[in-house]
Amino acid sequence: MANKTDKRDKLKIRELLKEKGISGVIKDLILNSQIWRSFFRHGLEDTSKNRMLTTISNVFLHLHAAKVKRHAPLFSFTWCMGGTTFFLFLVLTITGVFLMFYYHPNVRDAYWDMKGLEYHVPFGMLLRNLHRWGAHLMIITVWFHMFRVFMTGSYKSPREFNWGVGVVLLVLTLLLSFTGYLLPWDQLGFWAVTVGTNMARATPLLGHEGPFGEQLGMTAYNDIRFALLGGSLVGGNALLRAYIWHCIGLPLIVGIFMIVHFWRIRKDGGISGKL
Ligand code: HEM
Repeated sequence: MANKTDKRDKLKIRELLKEKGISGVIKDLILNSQIWRSFFRHGLEDTSKNRMLTTISNVFLHLHAAKVKRHAPLFSFTWCMGGTTFFLFLVLTITGVFLMFYYHPNVRDAYWDMKGLEYHVPFGMLLRNLHRWGAHLMIITVWFHMFRVFMTGSYKSPREFNWGVGVVLLVLTLLLSFTGYLLPWDQLGFWAVTVGTNMARATPLLGHEGPFGEQLGMTAYNDIRFALLGGSLVGGNALLRAYIWHCIGLPLIVGIFMIVHFWRIRKDGGISGKL
């Protein structure tokens, strides 16, 4: 019995060798091996099924829908403003991590660290400007994205929840920009944050000059402005708080909301249709 199957196998291999040549047989053996199949769970032919399997069986690609509506990837429909905003967020995260290598969040060093970065660190000027201009651009693209979503009516049901998530993302993006502004500890950032946090005095309920603040026991030493600054003036504590929010707190929260935002797009049936 064993002899018969051995003969059959040998015949098969001979036929295969004749048909495909030695390289073809080796290719076949590799592509059908258990190791290869455990990595790649799709064939190599350009078929609709393989294309879908390629997308859904890869951890990075499966974030995308396996199939999209024909108009969805059109630049003329989305302007790619959401995608560009996300791309800029990634650029800012990477350049931000590199900036952290050269920066000390204290009043004595912060300003000179930035100067040192510009004039003594190779490609420091480029690194700083990539982060700075990337941040400016992200603010512009997020507004354009919101404008596009509004103009295509994509805020309507079933996407109203994702519009809400978007509003949170917008506020968080602005807060990232605001907290980053203080970090170079130059006159521009110092006074911008002084003015900005002064506005917090007038927050309803939570600010000591805001509606009902006084009645709720708010003073200049326990209100929301005090919590933001870690004191009653813009100083070392405010710089440290801005740094921690900017580099850890806000990016983490933004990351979570972006995951929900992208997941929601898929669950709402992909990019909206034309009006
Ligand atoms: C950090 C900020 C944001 C990022 C990274 C982001 C990213 C994206 C991406 C990649 C898309 C896919 C379609 C496209 O590229 O246009 C999208 C869709 C969408 N976004 Fe945003 N977004 C952000 C902020 C916002 C804001 C501020 C709003 C509105 C207030 C918003 C509401 C929506 C809605 C409703 C959709 C679905 C649109 C449709 O189906 O046509 N997003 N977002």
